[in-house]
Formats: sequence, structure tokens, C-alpha cells
Amino acid sequence: MEEKQKTHQGTELLHDPHLNKGTAFSALDRQRQKLEGLLPAVIEGIEEQIQRVLKHLSLKPNDLERYIYMTGLLDRNETLFYKVLMSDPTRFVPIMYDPTVGEACLKFSDIYRRAAGLYITIEHKGRVKDILRNWPEIDVRFICVSTGGRILGLGDLGANGMGIPLGKLQLYTACAAVPPNKLLPVLLDCGTENAQLLKDPLYIGLRRRRPKIDELDEFVQEFVDAVQEVFPVCCIHFEDWKGTDAIRLLKRYKDKICCFNDDIQGTAGVALAGLIGAMNITGEKLSQQRVLMFGAGSAGIGIANMISSGMQAEGLSHSDAVSRINMFDVNGLLTKDRTDLSAEQTVYAADSKPTKDLVEAIRAVKATVLIGVSTVGKTFTREVVQAMTEQTERPVIFALSNPTEHAECSAQEAYEWSEGKAIFAAGVPFDEVTYKGKVFIPGQANNYYLYPGVSLGIYGAKPKRIPDALWIEGARALADLVTPEQKEKGMVFPPQKDILAISAAVAERVAKKAFEKGLAQEKEPKDLGTFIRELQYHPDYSEIL
Ligand code: NAI
Repeated sequence: MEEKQKTHQGTELLHDPHLNKGTAFSALDRQRQKLEGLLPAVIEGIEEQIQRVLKHLSLKPNDLERYIYMTGLLDRNETLFYKVLMSDPTRFVPIMYDPTVGEACLKFSDIYRRAAGLYITIEHKGRVKDILRNWPEIDVRFICVSTGGRILGLGDLGANGMGIPLGKLQLYTACAAVPPNKLLPVLLDCGTENAQLLKDPLYIGLRRRRPKIDELDEFVQEFVDAVQEVFPVCCIHFEDWKGTDAIRLLKRYKDKICCFNDDIQGTAGVALAGLIGAMNITGEKLSQQRVLMFGAGSAGIGIANMISSGMQAEGLSHSDAVSRINMFDVNGLLTKDRTDLSAEQTVYAADSKPTKDLVEAIRAVKATVLIGVSTVGKTFTREVVQAMTEQTERPVIFALSNPTEHAECSAQEAYEWSEGKAIFAAGVPFDEVTYKGKVFIPGQANNYYLYPGVSLGIYGAKPKRIPDALWIEGARALADLVTPEQKEKGMVFPPQKDILAISAAVAERVAKKAFEKGLAQEKEPKDLGTFIRELQYHPDYSEIL
């Protein structure tokens, strides 16, 4: 204890980012903690410090420089970093996460400054437990883990992918106030197939090719077992793994341990929330819709599966639910006589004649919901949008492919071509549209709408597993936050600026569901809302002892 006290004085205190307050140390603090002379005379509050940070940020030439600066701030003063981030998540999340994090990962080895998170390499095999124990915190509640196998749309970035677990976990705190000391970013470094990185002299990762599937899976199994032992109440969040690895491992672990994959379940949960939001506008039921997925890749399959679960939650049988969902890919409508379908795709194959024409497919399956996850921009033409208006009074059209030039259509096009009838959301932000004097506000299916709130709920309830039911409940909670005035403008999601309040509401419903389903390992509190709020982190110096 005596020793610990000592390390928390003087320059060591100033160099501890968890305890440092910088110029905000009071005169008494400075006297007691041997800080006198180590700081300039001024004694500031956190608000003045924020002004200085904002000034620094405004002098940076681009968002990558702002990312580097903010990462440095986190290394110096965690409280101030989160105070800035949480003061305006919609402004700062794009700097710390998407889209800047993509560039940061591409250049991660070049911009590397200071160790953060845990790099567990395949050469640590047999010793993963020991490596986990090197992490200074003992009560780790979430690990976000990537192999860097498929970073955003940028492919295999190996150890440079560490930017993703780091950023994704910062969003737990920025968007849901999950305490940062409960979060552990992990990069499972298994090498890379990226030839450019392998020959880059500054590359920070293991310089070898990736292992075969069996060897990878054995390593992952050791990692999963080690986590259960070292951090027994920890949820494992898989992120940005190669698609086939992601699907296989989620299938293996989903019903056994507390884990999730945001690329698959989080993405699908947000799309489902948008759809429920649309149903809240039309007054119809999800289980009455006929859905056509335009794109049958990993996003399409994940969303289709979640919509099927959502329909089953409304009482449909599995076969009735999947019969209401169809898919269309680069080779046209997925029909029973196609021989090129995977097992996951076959479930949604239509019993109708093949067509490569989207308009014809919409009419054949009588689609009331069209969801674009094709990666191909401008594919929802005027004819496509008009075909949707023939099927129902208020067609739901989501153009989720990103970046913007890949969106299947723009908000303007969807509203104009449907004469204001379409309920529209996209994967990227689009400005509001005025059509015939009426204002429409398009939704953005941003993943941060759901996974931070779901995680806060998991933090509260400590479920043994995370079944789809918890994601569906989170999606319903999110959609239910849209007010009547917002629905009037076609909004399917609540405003992003309210993300901290949104996440708290989502968390409460998710935790409640976990208690109801008997999954929780925590004792059910009398007042769940207060219980959740009390768990939340506050970036204030008064919270530091
Ligand atoms: P993927 O490559 O696995 O799948 C693409 C699918 O689209 C394939 O089935 C392919 O056959 C089909 N396709 C390609 N060209 C087509 C065409 N001309 N006509 C019809 N179908 C065509 O890609 P993945 O991972 O499924 O992602 C798809 C898109 O969804 C990406 O642009 C991604 O950015 C976006 N996405 C958006 C999210 C969001 O808004 N929250 C979340 C996840 C993905």
C-alpha cells in the first residue's frame, strides 16, 4: 500500500493517464502529492482544459492528425479524453472511429507511438493465460478481439487492425458510458496475407503468413478458455475477422459463452431496428412484410437471419418467417433451382422462376421491404423504387451499402421517385430532403446505435449467453425511442446526438430481457434503471480518488 501511494505522487502521478488531472490539480492536491513546481501556476477546471483541446484539434490539418492527437491525449489524461469524446459523440466518434479509423489502421505501424491493448501472438500459444494476466486490470468485463483479418472494407491488415478493438471499445464509453477500465482491446496476431505489410520494415506485427483453419481454431479455443479462467465474467466481442472465420466461430461459441460479433449481429440488429421503426410509422407488423434482400453476402445473410428471428418473436414459425424473406445477388433472384447457393442462402431461395431483373423480382415476390447490401451504387433506379410503390402504400427502402458512392440510391432519389411514400434509411448519412413542401429525415443505420447500449445491458445483467432475443429487444427499444414528430418526418431511428440517453434506454431493456429469460448471473435489482445508471462512467475529476 505504502509503495502504491508513492507511485501516485509527483511525476509518476502526472504520467499515469488514469489519475492525471494536469493543470486541474488543486493547490491542496499539488501540495499533498508533491506536484508543486511540476505544473505551471494556473489552476484550471476541466472546461478550460476542453477549450485548449478544441483549439489544438482546430489547428490539425486533417482527421488522421486529430486521431493521433486524441490518442496522445488518452495516453496523458483519460478523464479529459472521455470528457471531450462524450461531450459530443456525433462530432468526435468520426475522428476516433469510422471513417478515420480506416486510414489509421492502414498507417497504424507508421503512426504507432505507445503500447495500448494486448497483442497476443500465435507464438504465445500454450501461454495465453499468462499473457492475459499481464493486463493490469483484474475485473475485465469486455474484450473486443480481432485478428485484423478483414478490417472494414480494407482487407487483411494484420496487427495494424489493432485500431479497431481500440476504437470500438472507446465507443462503449463514448456512447454508453461503460467504464473504460472494464474494457480490454486484443489483437490476436496470427500473421497476415498482406504482402505489402510483410515487406514493410516498420510493420509492427508478426512477420509470417496466416495459419490454416485448424491451427487458428485451436489458438482461438485456447484464447476463449483462457478468458473464461482469467476474466470469468467477461463478454468476448469478435470484430473484423475474415468473414468465414467470423461466421464459423460465432456459430461455435454463441450458445456456449457470453460473446457476440458486431459485424454480424450488431449490424443486423440495427437494420432490424430500422425496420421496426418503419413498422412504428406504418402501424403494420414485421411479420406481415415480404422482404427482398438485394445482396446475399455476409451482411445480407446476417440481416435476413435477424429479421427471421424478429418475425418468429412475433409468433411466426421458422418456415413461415423464412418464406417471407427472399434474396437477390449478382446472379439474380435466389431460387430453388440455383446450384450456386451456400447452405445459409438456400434457406431463403424462392420457389419461383429465375430472373436477373430486380424489378421483375420485386413483383414476383411482392416485396414490401427492399434492403440493399450489394456494395453496388445506383442500383435502385427510378423503376425499382416505383415497383416498390406498386406493392404497398409505404414501401421500406434501405440502401445500406457504403461508402456514399456505393449506396444503392440516395435519400433524394428514394423520396422523389416514390413521391414521398418510401420510408428510407442508408448506411451513410444523407441530408434531410424537402419534397413537395414536406421535410423528410433519412435514417443512418450506424452500428453505434446498438452495440454500446446492448453492452451496457450485458455489463449490468451479466448474461451467460447472448441469444438473438437480446438483440431483438435492443432493436425494439431503439425503435421505440422515435417520437411521433420524428416519425412524421420519416425517421426510423432517434437522433444520433442523443446516443448516451439512447444507449441507457437500450441497456435497460436488454438487461430486463436477460433477467426475464433467466440468463442473468446478477441478482435482479428492484430499480433496474437506477442500477444501470449507477454503473455508468462519469469523466469527472471528482471521480478520481
Ligand atoms: P459481400 O461482398 O459479402 O456481399 C455482397 C453481395 O452483393 C453478394 O451477394 C453479391 O452477389 C451481391 N452483389 C454484388 N453485385 C451485385 C449486383 N450488381 N446486383 C445484385 N447483387 C450484387 O458484402 P457484405 O459484407 O455483405 O456487405 C455488403 C454491403 O453492405 C457493403 O457495402 C457494406 O458496406 C454494407 N454494410 C452496411 C452496414 C450498415 O449500414 N450498418 C453494415 C454492414 C454492411
